[in-house]
Amino acid sequence: MRIESIGIFGGTGFVGSSLANELTDRGLHLRIFPRSREHPRYLSLLPYTEIIEITTYDKTNITEQIAQCDAVINLAGILNEKGDSGAGFRRVHTELTETIIKACFDARIRRYLHMSALNADPFGPSHYLRTKGEAENAAMAAHDEGLETTVFRPSVIFGPNDNFFNRFARLLRISPPLFPLACAFARFQPVFVGDVSAAFVRALTDHSTFGMRYDLGGPQEQTLIEIVRYVAKLTNSRRVIVPMGPLLSKLQANILEYVPGKPFSRDNLRSASADSVCRGEDGLTQLGIKPTAIGEVVPSYLNGKFERMRYYNLRSTARRFP
Ligand SMILES: NC(=O)c1ccc[n+]([C@@H]2O[C@H](COP(=O)([O-])OP(=O)(O)OC[C@H]3O[C@@H](n4cnc5c(N)ncnc54)[C@H](OP(=O)(O)O)[C@@H]3O)[C@@H](O)[C@H]2O)c1
Repeated sequence: MRIESIGIFGGTGFVGSSLANELTDRGLHLRIFPRSREHPRYLSLLPYTEIIEITTYDKTNITEQIAQCDAVINLAGILNEKGDSGAGFRRVHTELTETIIKACFDARIRRYLHMSALNADPFGPSHYLRTKGEAENAAMAAHDEGLETTVFRPSVIFGPNDNFFNRFARLLRISPPLFPLACAFARFQPVFVGDVSAAFVRALTDHSTFGMRYDLGGPQEQTLIEIVRYVAKLTNSRRVIVPMGPLLSKLQANILEYVPGKPFSRDNLRSASADSVCRGEDGLTQLGIKPTAIGEVVPSYLNGKFERMRYYNLRSTARRFP
């Protein structure tokens, strides 16, 4: 299968940025479809890349936009919705995926790569996991109907612009001396964004990956409290991390849902009730990719982060630089 041009949904985010770099490094032509013109500026600097704003995600429009592509990658996803009805998750995960798949058939696209998540399951404990599971099953059903599909199910993903290690670093910074932590003993297997991108690139033209689902996890399994203690150490935070029981965790989720940016929600709490770790063989190993350890990457973007920031702020206040 020869692939020269790829359409990407959800290509403007954290994973999309890394993957777009990997793909253009290989000379592949990309068509990235953001919802607005307000996409990150660096995307416009990528070679062989067209940014095509899509305002309506109807099937006809998507079919037209992907018609010139040899493959489609769907990374679109959200971690939180407005309210707690599941409607927002269903729109982005289930409905958008179904529309993209139908458009793939109409445009005679033969290859489809789909981003899901560990524990995605139509009967899972949260709206996030249920809708991810519905989307994943729609993708696999499309494979049975002739669209060569591969599904990726990562644990939490880390890398310089992640929303996990960086978020805890920010929260620790503004927290009182005691840092209350919900789901402290939930287990994660953080996987490096570069390895996730490498998995997509490896799979793109590899026939053995067609019709497969790959769980993606890093080399270490850790509880959330171990991860947050590690972040505290790297950022020189002296906060004492206090694990909360189920009732207090629920209370915290209820409160933080109303904080701008929704740092934590009831749905996140439900998702964390299932450990986010690979159950069978890890997909990276199956794809011949050596998983990168947290310690190889995270210190490079968190180490002394806030001390450095304080230093730059002081210098700029003292007008040592503009
Ligand atoms: N990061 C993780 O730890 C992690 C772990 C497991 C699975 N995943 C999955 O990996 C994928 C990428 O995650 P990420 O961390 O890169 O997320 P991200 O930085 O938040 O990017 C999400 C992307 O989804 C698109 N999107 C959001 N809402 C949309 C909507 N209503 N309609 C269409 N597109 C929409 C955004 O496109 P716009 O430019 O249009 O806003 C953005 O490009 C998601 O499917 C996520 O569920 C991520």
